[in-house]
This record gives sequence, C-alpha cells and structure tokens, in this order.
Amino acid sequence: MSQQQDRHFRPGIMLFPLRKYMSGPQHDFIKTNVKRGMTALDLGSGPGFFATMLSEAVGINGTVHAVDGDKAAVTRLQNRAGALGLTNITAHVSSAANIPYIQSRSIDVLFSNGLLCCMLDHRGAVDEMMRVMKTGSRGFISVAKLFRKDGLGVPKDEWERIKRSFDVVDSGSSVVIDWVVVSKPGDDKNEL
Ligand SMILES: C[S@@+](CC[C@H](N)C(=O)[O-])C[C@H]1O[C@@H](n2cnc3c(N)ncnc32)[C@H](O)[C@@H]1O
Repeated sequence: MSQQQDRHFRPGIMLFPLRKYMSGPQHDFIKTNVKRGMTALDLGSGPGFFATMLSEAVGINGTVHAVDGDKAAVTRLQNRAGALGLTNITAHVSSAANIPYIQSRSIDVLFSNGLLCCMLDHRGAVDEMMRVMKTGSRGFISVAKLFRKDGLGVPKDEWERIKRSFDVVDSGSSVVIDWVVVSKPGDDKNEL
C-alpha cells in the first residue's frame, strides 16, 4: 500500500533558464514589500530562485531564512548563494510545518510560493507562518491550480479558509496559480 508523501522536485526544474526573464505577482510583492534590514522567511524555498532575490532586497543588514523539506534543494541553494556572494541567507532542511528554530513574531516578511500544494500538512504550515510573522507584517502565499485535486493540492474552499486566517491585502489568479498578499492579524482575529 503506498502512502502519499510531500512532493519534491529536482532542484534544476525550479531554476529553468527562462524563469529569470518571467515576472509575476511574486516579483511585484518583493519589489513593494521587502525592504533593507528586514528579516524574511522563504518557506518552501526550493533551490532559492526567490530566496536570492529576497537576499538582495533585504541587503547585508537583513536576513533571509530559507526552509525546504528537500536536502538536495537546500544544498543547491547554499551553493548558489555562495557563488553569488550572498552571505545573509540561512538555509534549513525541515518541514514547513515544524520550524521551531525560527522565533515567534520574528519575521518581517513571509514568502511562500507553491509550497502548500506540495505538502500534506497545510494547516501545520499555515500555523507556523502565523506564529513566526510579526503582527501587521506582510506575506505572499501562492498555490498551484494544477494539483488541486491530487490530495496534496489545496481545494478552492480550503484556499478561501487559509486566506481568511489572515487579513487579505490583495489576491489574484493566473492560469497556473492562485496567490494572496496577506497581513498578519492581531490576536483578536478568530483563527479558523
Ligand atoms: C513548487 S516548489 C516551489 C519552490 C520555490 N518556492 C520556487 O518558487 O521556486 C515547492 C517546494 O516545496 C518543498 N516542499 C514540499 N513539501 C515540503 C514540506 N513539508 N516542508 C518544506 N518544504 C516542502 C519542495 O521540496 C519544493 O522545493
């Protein structure tokens, strides 16, 4: 009997050459919300296509925590950061649903592109996002539409519930993803 597991990709797939010429809501989010000196979290970073952009945006006085469940992806990220001379990225191999090494309310900006639809414990990951973000901090979260029905995927009603856990600043949809820009609510918001 096969048991479903989180989905990992060959790191090279997430670094395909044309990707650096593409732009989307992820790039707009980074441009608008990531400032020098911030502490950022890239949850489900893969080999760090966006973690390196976050690193440049926060600058040498900022920090990027990059977390991925796949050791090969994290090693690739560390090698790329080394080659690019980016010294402000701390990379961790772990489940996004269990990041106790990141202090509560320590994150100024959260980025999580295409993670939730690759993992089983959506609620665990969202709870960790909520725990580590500072009140009022911004986050970008996206999920793939393609995998919606495969068990790991995030069905529409669940996506709406996840969005409502936060304060929604902006949201949208492309052919392949649903995305949301959120703000971490204060303690008085009823979490779902
Ligand atoms: C679609 S990729 C996106 C990677 C990256 N955010 C990007 O945009 O290039 C999803 C990533 O989630 C990671 N992942 C899957 N399950 C995970 C889990 N439970 N905890 C942390 N990362 C996980 C995979 O290894 C993969 O790198």
